[in-house]
Amino acid sequence: MKQKTSFLCSECGYESAKWFGKCPSCGAWNTMEEFREAKQAAPRGTLAPAERRTRNKPLVINQIQTEEELRFYTGISELDRVLGGGAVRGSFVLVGGEPGIGKSTLLLQMCQEMCRQAKVLYVSGEESLRQIRLRADRLHISSPELFVLAETDLDEIIAETDLLQPDVLIVDSIQTVYQSDLNSAPGNTTQIKECAMKLMQYAKRRGVTIFIVGHVTKEGTLAGPKILEHMVDCVLYFEGEKQISFRCLRAAKNRFGSTNEVGVFEMSDCGLIEVPNPSAAMLSGHPVDASGNCIACTIEGSRPILAEIQALVTKTAYGTPRRMAAGVDYNRMVLLLAILEKRVGFYLSASDTYINVIGGMRLDEPAIDLPIALAVASSYRDQALPEGVMAFGEVGLTGELRAVTAAAQRIHEAIRLGFTTCIMPKQNIGRIEIPDGFRVIQKENIAQAIGAAFGAKGS
Ligand code: TYD
Ligand code: MG
Repeated sequence: MKQKTSFLCSECGYESAKWFGKCPSCGAWNTMEEFREAKQAAPRGTLAPAERRTRNKPLVINQIQTEEELRFYTGISELDRVLGGGAVRGSFVLVGGEPGIGKSTLLLQMCQEMCRQAKVLYVSGEESLRQIRLRADRLHISSPELFVLAETDLDEIIAETDLLQPDVLIVDSIQTVYQSDLNSAPGNTTQIKECAMKLMQYAKRRGVTIFIVGHVTKEGTLAGPKILEHMVDCVLYFEGEKQISFRCLRAAKNRFGSTNEVGVFEMSDCGLIEVPNPSAAMLSGHPVDASGNCIACTIEGSRPILAEIQALVTKTAYGTPRRMAAGVDYNRMVLLLAILEKRVGFYLSASDTYINVIGGMRLDEPAIDLPIALAVASSYRDQALPEGVMAFGEVGLTGELRAVTAAAQRIHEAIRLGFTTCIMPKQNIGRIEIPDGFRVIQKENIAQAIGAAFGAKGS
């Protein structure tokens, strides 16, 4: 059989018969890599012909037999939440993130709890058995049901898994494992895709829950796990700033959960600690009576989280003003500055503007527009927002405030954390019940909201 050769983009997984300098799908440069399909054409022939015939018959949807999904609780409730209530038996989960963010730590901690109900095999292609043991000791992990293997040859890994028959298999990381019959180096697009495909089939056929770790680097030197996203059942991204101890685990895709949840952790000297009350953690150290900050409420999955947005507006020293955004989208920030200039009359084109979200969280939801604008206004006017004020709302190009979802949930979270006033869009009116003692200021546009925030009592 002739071996098929094609080219795959390591950023987005776009496949083409031709090589391109620039990927036609995602526009990234120099990301097309040669991809050779394995000679045995692995995906086919894994099912017996008889089995295949019965599988392909169309059925009426309510006649499909469903068994109760068997789930393993990971014992880490923030992780269970992101997985949609534990890891489903036979599912294939990708845990992605930058190197050093804590993926191995998280999975090793997960093993500790999981091996109370299941047999777990942790395969590391990055660390020696001694290194794993040292790390486990630091994390106080020791269990007679946890097996560890240091191996990078996928066939060996599968052979050992066949012998041991674990319920859960962890492969850390997909970039280090390889299949010897493919003549490309580990970490190459071909290797990653073929190895992941083989593991996926193994998971489905044997009902083994498999977690694979995938490194993502900003420079894209290793083939990014983007090409794996369509193959796996769940994609969890572990993100955060290395210098800040908070880490967010986000579900970018979940076939077994209804919402894209987020779990919050803190890295300590003895591993990752869950943060069950992220709002309180994000707000700790919030300065009182300082200009240039505003509390926002964002919805992550089904959970509202309060976060502090800080802004610094200073006079530009050079010709062009500088803009920097950490934790919020840069283009969104630039747009908001333009709206503030045009609709409110702030002279921002002669000012440098910096925006930062405290705690290293990334907020990307339109509801944080208003708090960003209020933080900028507070710094521009050098006037602090009154105590106990928080805000949410989307800002349109004409400066109008637009309704956002889950307003009641956001208000309840604010009340729970002791806030007394909320500035929000008028359009959200009529749909929420507001408890006594909590003041809601509803405005139609950004200029009115700023006017109300600084001074004017009541709506
Ligand atoms: P690691 O899990 O090895 O990251 P990844 O697998 O994503 O590459 O995490 C490594 C970082 O975490 C390392 O810089 C040290 C830090 N760390 C702690 O702060 N405390 C701990 O208990 C452990 C195990 C690691
Ligand atoms: Mg690691």
